[in-house]
Amino acid sequence: MARKTSNRSKSKDKPRASARKKAAPRAKKQPHGIIRTLRDKIIAYSEGQSISNRKLLEFMSEFLAVEKGGIQLYTAAAKRSTDPEIKGVYENFLSQTENHARILTEAIEELGGDPSYMSPGAVAQEKLAKAMLSLEVPKELRELKDAELLLLAETKDHMDWEFLDKISSKVEQSTRELLRGIVSQVEDEEDEHLEFAKKAVEKLALRVATSASKSAQSAQSIRRAA
Ligand SMILES: [Fe+2]
Ligand SMILES: [Fe+2]
Repeated sequence: MARKTSNRSKSKDKPRASARKKAAPRAKKQPHGIIRTLRDKIIAYSEGQSISNRKLLEFMSEFLAVEKGGIQLYTAAAKRSTDPEIKGVYENFLSQTENHARILTEAIEELGGDPSYMSPGAVAQEKLAKAMLSLEVPKELRELKDAELLLLAETKDHMDWEFLDKISSKVEQSTRELLRGIVSQVEDEEDEHLEFAKKAVEKLALRVATSASKSAQSAQSIRRAA
């Protein structure tokens, strides 16, 4: 996901003969402490895209709310699922999502933030999760709608982590290391969550479609028999 999709250009050009003859340049000495921090700030500001810790924490508050909403959605969907395969996967993803929430909580604390603070984006996500959880649908559509809601939630969840990876080049060095560290812990799981959500929707939609045609067939045979 996030890291895999980032721009990693691989040049296919072979070095010129003259360049090959030159001795390999010595590794540059890396600056330390205040000089490194200043250098990172200058690079970020010169690109006009630096992101402050305060702004980052606002986003992370929102992303934590998304993970918390995911916990509630997986709990409800796993409880209602009658498909053993889907139910098992939901339960597994529920515990992974709980872990993602823990990872974000600890990262917010490490950046000096308060995990209990709700940014405006987090408040919006909490309301959205509440609305999703209170959605009333006919019984025969319940499991399909649960899967569709999870697909929406996982799309946002996936994008959140991708975003954290993308902006890691626009924050200070220590924050960058922290962001890249937490993204690498969850990225494979988030890929799996999104992929499975799509498959679950497809499987359950097919189940609804075929059960509808089965009932239409039996209604027809009843009419013929009458
Ligand atoms: Fe997650
Ligand atoms: Fe997820």
